[in-house]
Amino acid sequence: MRRAARAGGLPPAWGLALAWALILARAQALENGLARTPPMGWLAWERFRCNIDCEADPQNCISEKLFFDMADRLAEDGWRELGYKYINIDDCWSAKQRDGAGQLVPDPKRFPRGIKALADYVHSRGLKLGIYGDLGTLTCGGYPGTTVDCVEQDAQTFAQWGVDMLKLDGCYSSEEEQAEGYPKMAKALNATGRPIVYSCSWPAYQGGLPPKVNYTLLAEICNLWRNYGDIEDSWDSVLSIVDWFSAHQDVLQPAAGPGHWNDPDMLIIGNFGLSYEQSRSQMALWTVMAAPLLMSTDLRTISPSAKEILQNRLMIQINQDPLGIQGRRIVKEKFHVEVFLRPLSQAASALIFFSRRTDMPFRYTTSLAKLNFPDNTVYEVQDVYSGSSWRYHPHLPPGKCMLSVHGLDEQ
Ligand code: GLA
Repeated sequence: MRRAARAGGLPPAWGLALAWALILARAQALENGLARTPPMGWLAWERFRCNIDCEADPQNCISEKLFFDMADRLAEDGWRELGYKYINIDDCWSAKQRDGAGQLVPDPKRFPRGIKALADYVHSRGLKLGIYGDLGTLTCGGYPGTTVDCVEQDAQTFAQWGVDMLKLDGCYSSEEEQAEGYPKMAKALNATGRPIVYSCSWPAYQGGLPPKVNYTLLAEICNLWRNYGDIEDSWDSVLSIVDWFSAHQDVLQPAAGPGHWNDPDMLIIGNFGLSYEQSRSQMALWTVMAAPLLMSTDLRTISPSAKEILQNRLMIQINQDPLGIQGRRIVKEKFHVEVFLRPLSQAASALIFFSRRTDMPFRYTTSLAKLNFPDNTVYEVQDVYSGSSWRYHPHLPPGKCMLSVHGLDEQ
C-alpha cells in the first residue's frame, strides 16, 4: 500500500467544500462524541468462539483469565500506545439464566470476580472494556438475550459494571423488534451518562442494503455497525467481504464518517487461515475501508510477522485519519488487479494496488490520469510496508508520465 501526498495545501474552494461536508456530517451523527476515528482493539469471537470448556482448555476458554491475559498483552506489548485500547468480550460470557432481579450475570465459574472487577483491571491498565448483548430472546450462542423490555435494565447494568463498548447482536429477534430495540438501546446507553461506544449488528440482519437498511438513521444511533456476514479464518472469507463492500460502495462509503463506521468484521491476522501477503492485504484493505481494527487472535502467542503487520504505524495513522473518509475501489482490471483509494487529511491519499492473481508476482503499471491525480504537481510517495519513500514528478523524465508500481499484495 502506498500513501501519496500532494505538495501544497488544498485550494481554498476545496477547503470550503470540505468544511461544509464536515458540518453536515456532524449534525447527522450520533452525538455521544465517541469513536471519532474507527475503534481499535481486540475482540474474542473469531479466534476463541464459544469455547466454554475451561476444564479441558483453561487457556483458551471464554473466562476472565482470557481477558486478563489479553489486557496484559495489550498493555505490555506495545498495542495500547498504538491505539488498540478496547478489549471486547463476545458471546457466551453470561450465565444461562438471569438472576432473581432479572439482571444479566456472568457465568460464576468462568468469571468468578465478575465483570466489574474485570473492567476495573482493564481500566487500571489504560484500556477499555467491551461487552456483548443480543436484542432477542437468546444470543446467537444460546445465552440470555436482551429483549426490548430489558433494554433499559441491561444498559444500566453494563454502565454500572464500567463497560465502555457494547456490541448488540440481532439473533432471535424480529424485524419489528430490531426497529424498536436498536434505537431504544441508543437512548438507554445515553441515559446512563456513561460514554459507551455502541456497535449495532442490525443492518447485517436486514441484508445490509437500502431500502431495508436506513444508513442515515444508523449514523444517528450507532457508532459502528456490522453490515454483512461473519468473518471466518480464511482468505475466501476476506475476499467475499471485500467483494460485497466494493460492490455496494456507493451506498456504504458515504455512510461512514467520524463517530459512525461500517464494520466489515474482525482482523483475522495472526490466526491460521492467511498467508503473510494475505495478512498484509487484509490490514491494508481494512485500513482503506476506514474499518474498526478489532483483532481476534491470541496475543500471547502471536508471531513476530503478524505483530509487525498489525503494529505498522503508518498504516494505523492512515486508518485513524481525522477526516474519517472511507475509501473506495477505483479500478478493477480484467487481469485481476484492483486499486483502492482513501482520501486523507493534508491533501494526502492512501492507495492499495491489490493483486488477486494466483500465478506469480505481477508488475502493474498505471498512470496518474487513470487514478485521477493531476499531473502538474510533485508527489511524495511512501510505501507503507517497506517504509521507503521517494519524490515523483510526472514530467521527469519528459514524456514518461507513468507511475510504475510493483504490486505489493501478490500471492
Ligand atoms: C453472530 C455475530 C458474531 C458473533 C456471534 C456470537 O454470529 O455476527 O460476530 O458475535 O454471533 O454468537
